[in-house]
Amino acid sequence: MSPTPHVLLFPLPMQGPVNCMLKLAELLCISGITVTVLNTDYIHRTLIRHSNVLTRFSSYDNLRFKTISDGLPEDHPRSGQRFLDLFDGMKTVTEPVFREMMVSGCFSFKSDPPVTIIIPDASFSFALDVAEEVGIPLFYFETVSPSALWTYLCLPKLIGAGEVPFNGNDLNVLIKNVPGTETFLRRRDLPSFCRLDDVDNLVTKIIMKEARCVPRAHGLILNTFQALDETVLVHMRKLCPDIYCIGPIHTLYKSLVTTQSSVSNSLWEENATCLSWLDTQVTRSVVYVSIGSMAMMTVEQLFEFWHGLVNSGKPFLWVQRPGSVIGEYDHNLVPKRLIDETKQRGFITTWVPQEAVLAHSAIGGFLTHSGWNSTIESIIEGVPMICWPQNVDQQVNSRFVSEVWKVGIDIKDTCDRGIVEKAVRDVIDVRKTEFIESTRMLAELGGQSVAEDGPSVMDLNRFIKTITTL
Ligand code: UDX
Repeated sequence: MSPTPHVLLFPLPMQGPVNCMLKLAELLCISGITVTVLNTDYIHRTLIRHSNVLTRFSSYDNLRFKTISDGLPEDHPRSGQRFLDLFDGMKTVTEPVFREMMVSGCFSFKSDPPVTIIIPDASFSFALDVAEEVGIPLFYFETVSPSALWTYLCLPKLIGAGEVPFNGNDLNVLIKNVPGTETFLRRRDLPSFCRLDDVDNLVTKIIMKEARCVPRAHGLILNTFQALDETVLVHMRKLCPDIYCIGPIHTLYKSLVTTQSSVSNSLWEENATCLSWLDTQVTRSVVYVSIGSMAMMTVEQLFEFWHGLVNSGKPFLWVQRPGSVIGEYDHNLVPKRLIDETKQRGFITTWVPQEAVLAHSAIGGFLTHSGWNSTIESIIEGVPMICWPQNVDQQVNSRFVSEVWKVGIDIKDTCDRGIVEKAVRDVIDVRKTEFIESTRMLAELGGQSVAEDGPSVMDLNRFIKTITTL
């Protein structure tokens, strides 16, 4: 019989990926697998400060946390455009330390077996070199959407065919070299870095490396369910035959680990009082607004959204993450009407328990930056989206939301109070019946995927069997 596997999970230090990896950690732990989670020092400290992670994990005797430096000073913002500094820090500091940790076997604790499987974020190309060097199988966990990953995997072909870069021109031209998407994916829907003037930039280089490394891994784990992404999975399997779709991972987690609502992997302190406020609102009347953990907006954009929300006449719950607005504004100059109407039917806060918010019956729509976790969380709760994508994969996700799954409206590349007002009215009122039907169908398919013997449960079991017999 093979020795018990010991899995090393190594998330990208961002809210969405950290949350997914911690849920995967627990799913593996309850199957008796030994797990080490390697977080950056910064993420580990922040998790301890704002969530109940350590208390929760103390009940597992087969789980350890290890930390590693991300190479950035403590006071670095690690968000917005400055998030990219992280890749420099990781290259110079994290990579060599990680290699040293793997070679020296520092992940063994007391009677733990040595690490036998590595599961890093799919953007960590260096981890594959290290895994090959030490002879340990590696499975990538891709925490962006499969549709975005598919565009990454096609990037060498897109560049070779001259479809990328396109220097920001003719954004409505259809893309030919992403199989399965030829009828609806336009230049403007490609990942944001494709809009840069040339391909000699940090993000394109990172993604090109990722496109080369992902097919070389032993397998690929995706946070999706098969029925949702079959359009692209059918093509992706030709490059990466061993794919495990274990999503929506937060729902799989609720079905297999715990249904408790107090579970949090948040990097900010959650304001749960918004749930009591939601209790006072009418069913499907509130629009929830959040741009996730990284995206930012200018002061002008903030005011366009604010006017649009107020002018729609609908109640709104708005997360304004600390540091998410670029630049300062004088609070005394905010028009009195905005203040008064927000007091009447708005709730603005810095961070909320999003899964619980989206599950609340008062929520009728989600104005989102289209990060993959927010998207799949909204899909599973049957909440239609208004998509305002900013970075990397978000442009692709929003196109799939509006054109493939038809569960929302894509307002990318605009930021105008009239457009926001109309989109909110459409989702909450005018197109309500249409969206209730389309979101319900998709949510049901998602629910079936994590039910007993559902495809995501089967894929998790298949994955556990694979790593146990390797
Ligand atoms: C990043 C990228 O920006 C995104 O494009 C990519 O798809 C995944 O990694 P992020 O910007 O954080 O993620 O967005 P998203 O993927 O939507 O994840 C945000 C997470 O934070 C979600 O799980 C959401 O539930 C949580 N969240 C957000 C809260 O718990 N509370 C909040 O107030 C806001």
